[in-house]
Amino acid sequence: MRYCSSFLFLSTIFYTSRVASALGTSCTSPLGGGTAAPTDPYWLELITHQGTSPFNPDASTYQVFRNVKDFGAAGDGVTDDTAAINAAMSSGNRCGGGSCGSSTVSPAIVYFPQGTYLVSSAINTYYYTQMIGDARNPPTLLANSNFSGFAVIDADPYIPSGNGAQWFVNQDNFFRSVRNLIIDLRQIPLGTSAIGLHWQVSQATSLVNVVVEMSSASGNTQKGLYMESGSGGFMGDIVFNGGNIGVQVGNQQFTVRNLTVNNADIAVSGAWNWGFTFQGVYINNCQVGFDLTVGGNTQAAQAVGSEAIIDAVVVDTPIFVQSSAASNGALPYSLVLNNIQLTNVPTAVGVAGGATILEGGTITITSWCQGNVYSGTSGQATWVQGDIVSAAKPSVLLGSSGAIFGKGHPQYADYATSQIMSVKSQGAKGDGTTDDTTAIQNIFDEYAGCMIIFFDAGVYYVTETITIPAGTQIVGEAWSVILAGGSNFQSQNNPIPVIQAGTPGSEGLMEISDMLFTTTGPAPGAILIEWNVHDPSGEQGAAGMWDSHLRYVRHNDFKNPTHSVVVRLGGAIGTNMQYSQCPSGSTNAACQAAFLGIYLTSQSSAYFEGTWVWTADHDLDASGQTSIFTGRGILSESAGPVWLIGTSEHAALYQYNLANAKNHYIGFAQTETPYYQPDPAPPAPYSSNSAYYDPSYPSGLDAAWAMYIQTSSNIIIFGAGFYSFFQNYAQTCLGTNTCQAQVLNIDNSSLSSVTVYGLSTVGVTWQLSVGETGIVNESNNPDGLQETLTAWYY
Ligand SMILES: *[C@@H]1O[C@H](CO)[C@@H](O)[C@H](O)[C@H]1NC(C)=O
Ligand SMILES: *[C@@H]1O[C@H](CO)[C@@H](O)[C@H](O)[C@H]1NC(C)=O
Ligand SMILES: *[C@@H]1O[C@H](CO)[C@@H](O)[C@H](O)[C@H]1NC(C)=O
Ligand SMILES: *[C@@H]1O[C@H](CO)[C@@H](O)[C@H](O)[C@H]1NC(C)=O
Repeated sequence: MRYCSSFLFLSTIFYTSRVASALGTSCTSPLGGGTAAPTDPYWLELITHQGTSPFNPDASTYQVFRNVKDFGAAGDGVTDDTAAINAAMSSGNRCGGGSCGSSTVSPAIVYFPQGTYLVSSAINTYYYTQMIGDARNPPTLLANSNFSGFAVIDADPYIPSGNGAQWFVNQDNFFRSVRNLIIDLRQIPLGTSAIGLHWQVSQATSLVNVVVEMSSASGNTQKGLYMESGSGGFMGDIVFNGGNIGVQVGNQQFTVRNLTVNNADIAVSGAWNWGFTFQGVYINNCQVGFDLTVGGNTQAAQAVGSEAIIDAVVVDTPIFVQSSAASNGALPYSLVLNNIQLTNVPTAVGVAGGATILEGGTITITSWCQGNVYSGTSGQATWVQGDIVSAAKPSVLLGSSGAIFGKGHPQYADYATSQIMSVKSQGAKGDGTTDDTTAIQNIFDEYAGCMIIFFDAGVYYVTETITIPAGTQIVGEAWSVILAGGSNFQSQNNPIPVIQAGTPGSEGLMEISDMLFTTTGPAPGAILIEWNVHDPSGEQGAAGMWDSHLRYVRHNDFKNPTHSVVVRLGGAIGTNMQYSQCPSGSTNAACQAAFLGIYLTSQSSAYFEGTWVWTADHDLDASGQTSIFTGRGILSESAGPVWLIGTSEHAALYQYNLANAKNHYIGFAQTETPYYQPDPAPPAPYSSNSAYYDPSYPSGLDAAWAMYIQTSSNIIIFGAGFYSFFQNYAQTCLGTNTCQAQVLNIDNSSLSSVTVYGLSTVGVTWQLSVGETGIVNESNNPDGLQETLTAWYY
């Protein structure tokens, strides 16, 4: 009892009567609201900076946290700060510039205090960077009138004279976040191209609380965000004012939550995709809401394939959705609109310069689609361009406005530095080798609910279950790592959690953000996160994770040989998942990374936003392929409410298993089947475990289920991409969609209250099965590279 001890006397009664039972800890002075003074800078700026990157070649000097002012930025709106910001970004031999594809050993937070930072060329972001502004008074990046560059913030720069070459491979551009920044393009002269963010990214990326200010002059060509490709990703709580285009997006898949576009010509320009989910879209005074490029149904013609929009409020905008060319078909192959409120929007859906498909006005569109709709066990597609059944939405999933509930990444902007407890200050080492189990457990026991617990950047090795009491708020620094290993996690017959979030039946706050959970193999008996805690009554989304990921390291999931120092992550602690031990096709027990990723137990609730549960599955820097085996992805037995917003992964038995689950909203769910299957076929190398509701594999299915739904109810899937690109690393199955037979199963007892919208699959014969019998034949739904089923309900 340290920080809180002075309050012991005053709060003894409170402690014994309520807090101890609520928190299960010795915290005696529960953290109330934030106590920062109005003029205080954000605590992240003020705390002692102790983050490290233990596997960096210069670990003792490598700096994770970089305040741009320490690198010479003035933030006065007058001085050109470009060079200073770029120095903060690049110093310390980081990964970027075109010579390094990826690395996890040089993470950084590039921090901007309050102020206005004048820039005259692009801020090129290096791999594994969080750009964070003061959350209390978000700073501005002001593009100077002489600005010259592709975008103010560029996540994947083009190399000058590089014939289109870029710094990073777009679909491997992981681990990026930009938060609490205003980007102002208004000083750039009209006629000069201007882009706020070039955001060509993949998984484990987020934009949070970002505003782009653009010109309101007619004929301007400014764009708030431009994304031409990638495999994302999540963005939320973002605002675009003015400009020609708010966001112009092309990506395999993406989840966008809480997007506002005011006074643009086009709010959202869709270039291409396999599937996008927009959840909570606010469009005011634009010319067109969604302008979607339509290509046709062949792979060569791929454009926007599947767009699913839920909870939009559109005001004073002539057209809500239009396809930009009639010649290739009236609309994207699959379009779903759910709970769309239009006010003074004459055309709800139409074709640019062509027909009105759905009249607008001042109306609410409850549920409308274009595409192939299926119901029950009938494999017969009905092509619908009109109203369809709306999923019953349990009220526990809805916020006060009747929209799906959402909650942004907690940033604790109002909290004072004295309310933040650093784990390194309390004795945890985070050096990747010291066993930090006891230190970390002690910190939770003493400070949970009493302080916000800050994991300074580092790698925290743990060998036993860490129990986190309800009432805890945890923040990492550029994805602080909990690395589990050792003898306790060896038995797949007796799996135990690494992190136990709450105990069964516990209620309260549980907020985890910016953390990364992993194992050093073998760990076939590890359940990375057992999630037990439930929201207190009357409070939604209290128990959740934001921008926190699970990653299973194989030999070296980072592709540049010059950064193969990551191998030592295993090497130092067990050296067990090297290429030599885990060649593809092997079923070496040493290559088993975890029993289960995330387990939502029956009494839990969960709000997970931007969670990537990734098993690294092929090695780009060695000549051989490696196989590493993660047993299971996410198992939910939760009665809800559960929101899975922008989650993705790949594991051996399944990616999502909903067993006795209720009241789940899931969108966009992205999965990939392990590339090694069917060699071995699931459940190998694990054995099936009925205590964990493992699915069965009907004859003909020799690959992981993407999603298996059993005895569950009120499940809404709003956008999904279930991909199977390989069989034993070969792609010959792709052309015939025979990489796996079945991918999504709904058992006969769950049929009546599961609804699926906007499901895209790749390489799969049956897109949807009932009772392990294929129902929806992919060949009815060609949509470019993927096939898309627009809606399925009972
Ligand atoms: C832009 O103007 C600033 C002064 O405001 C100057 O420092 C900078 O060098 C100029 N940049 C370019 C690319 O002309
Ligand atoms: C949406 O984002 C804006 C801007 O960050 C924020 O002010 C607002 O509270 C958010 N709304 C919801 C419902 O999350
Ligand atoms: C489930 O439904 C499917 C499709 O109607 C049927 O083929 C199968 O026999 C049923 N299974 C069970 C266990 O009832
Ligand atoms: C799917 O439908 C196509 C076209 O009707 C047919 O050729 C194919 O055999 C069907 N696939 C299966 C597995 O039944």
